[in-house]
Amino acid sequence: MDVYEAVTSRRAVREFTDRHVPGEVLERVLSAAAWAPSASNLQPWHAYVVTRGPLAELKKRAGERLAAGDPWDEPEYEMYPPGLKSPYRERRSAFGEQRYGALGIARDDLEARQRAAAANWECFGAPAALFCYIDRDLGPAQWSDVGMYLQTVMLLLRAEGLHSCTQM
Ligand SMILES: Cc1cc2nc3c(=O)[nH]c(=O)nc-3n(C[C@H](O)[C@H](O)[C@H](O)COP(=O)(O)O)c2cc1C
Repeated sequence: MDVYEAVTSRRAVREFTDRHVPGEVLERVLSAAAWAPSASNLQPWHAYVVTRGPLAELKKRAGERLAAGDPWDEPEYEMYPPGLKSPYRERRSAFGEQRYGALGIARDDLEARQRAAAANWECFGAPAALFCYIDRDLGPAQWSDVGMYLQTVMLLLRAEGLHSCTQM
């Protein structure tokens, strides 16, 4: 697969089979992704792959917290600024309409939306999850390094015939 095809065939996939991804495939992807650029070559990403038993346990624990109405951990940052301005506000709501519309969920059906969103905690059924961390005291430039790293991982996954979904 060439780079153009990897880029244009990548999309956020939210339903997976449970077919195991061989460890050597993930190792190949992560070894190559280490070539991703970063300012002053800091390589500020810390990546952990979780599969099989530990991933099942993680999903189980997340499901239990969700079922118990757990308020979750205190967020350390806002995903979007308050009062998101145009044109981003409109794009965000168009995304919501497309995503939930495709699932047949009405705009005002908050409960069904929450149920669909809960699939995030199941990693959408994916058989492998990559958790990527950054040191708290690093700043926006390093966050962008991490973004480049993750996109590199996702394109390499395409080269292996695999799909992914970014989750924040
Ligand atoms: C930083 C980031 C965080 C995201 N977080 C989530 C998430 O938590 N759950 C989810 O289902 N999709 C998430 N996505 C996927 C986006 O919704 C998706 O990339 C976007 O709608 C564009 O669609 P595409 O990736 O299929 O081109 C995230 C994407 C990015 C880049």
